[in-house]
Amino acid sequence: MSQLTIFDDLRPGAPVVSTHDAEAMARELAAIGVRFERWESPVALRPDDAPETILAAYKPYLDELMGATGACSADVIKLTPDHPSAAALREKFLAEHIHTEDEIRFFVHGGGHFVMHVNGRVYDAYCAAGDLISVPANTKHWFDAGAAPDFIALRVFTDSAGWVAHFTGDTISARFPVA
Ligand SMILES: [Fe+2]
Repeated sequence: MSQLTIFDDLRPGAPVVSTHDAEAMARELAAIGVRFERWESPVALRPDDAPETILAAYKPYLDELMGATGACSADVIKLTPDHPSAAALREKFLAEHIHTEDEIRFFVHGGGHFVMHVNGRVYDAYCAAGDLISVPANTKHWFDAGAAPDFIALRVFTDSAGWVAHFTGDTISARFPVA
């Protein structure tokens, strides 16, 4: 189940807000420019469906999303606990970074933590199946799905280079373990 936990960035372990309520999550995240929506989707997929099948099933939603954001491409990212690069991919996403485009994800299966670091606060948004999140360009953040990642997410890109991160060098994510 999706959840938002907010901390003062100097006080790990002492949340100031914690909620599972989608409307409350959307409201808190909108205050820092992050779009969060829980979609009631009629699409039924199996975790072993091919990426092409998943993209096709969500095409109407993606077209709408890409039209609204001016995005130019979409793909499917799938991580399973036995993925040979699970540990390396976890490290890659775990260091605080920004992008020069919005980071848009829709979770089809499983979930993971998007953690934003804004105005002295840490916003840990656990996104689950059915959740859309869009992190604005230049917002400091990281992502963690734990040591045994299990999720499938759609990714929407405006940059033709795909996922490009600019790391801040801040080790804050080590002080806010989410899994
Ligand atoms: Fe990112």
